[in-house]
Amino acid sequence: MIDIHCHILPGIDDGASKFTDSLQMAKQAESEGIHTIIATPHHQNGRFNNFKADILTLTTELNDYLKTENVDVKILPGQENRIYGELIEDYEAGEIMTLANISNYLFIELPSNHVPRYTEKLCFDLQMKGLTPVIVHPERNAELIERSDKLYKLVKNGAATQITAASFAGYFGKKIQKFTFDLVEANLTHFIASDAHNTTKRGFIMEEGLDLLEKKYGTDSLYYFMDNAELIVDGKDIDREIPEQIKKKKLFGIF
Ligand SMILES: [Fe+2]
Repeated sequence: MIDIHCHILPGIDDGASKFTDSLQMAKQAESEGIHTIIATPHHQNGRFNNFKADILTLTTELNDYLKTENVDVKILPGQENRIYGELIEDYEAGEIMTLANISNYLFIELPSNHVPRYTEKLCFDLQMKGLTPVIVHPERNAELIERSDKLYKLVKNGAATQITAASFAGYFGKKIQKFTFDLVEANLTHFIASDAHNTTKRGFIMEEGLDLLEKKYGTDSLYYFMDNAELIVDGKDIDREIPEQIKKKKLFGIF
């Protein structure tokens, strides 16, 4: 299996601190059946800046190190970009990288509590450049939980989204878990990934998350998510289903 969102590169964000931490993470990933990881360090999130050239160098270094440690997990480069006004200019300046550095898919992280007004325009402009924005962990955005119609509009207009395996498995609480189920059921999400930061509090949870996904939605759903991760790594276009609005359930007794 492939994990497209992971903070495994050492010493550059709030993920792995040292190469030995990256090694432990790679071992945990391997034990869950993950053979390929796209390393996606934070960029422009107010705390961490990690530019394309540095990520490429460190990815090569980590792959060499894992080889000497006999861990059979391949690391590919990527980046988790917090949304900001100059993102497209910086992409053109070579600071921003697509997933696996060969796909046309680009991670976009929204602030955790709201959706900036310019999100729609930025997503549109990215698509005009031939890029597909992938909104990471929308299930953890406080505004989107209340206003799923905003996410529907973005997806309908061509954006993709990635949910976190741990959210799906319930590690971020019932409300977030319920919203991840809603997103899957309404075809509002295209990837499931770990967003792992370490091997303890923010581990991979991919095996557990995907087992639950298969139990709840069947093998077709599992393969849809697994195939999309593979298509990204191969630099191909992903599969998409027609998105639907999430229906709000009316409270019994009020109507
Ligand atoms: Fe992340």
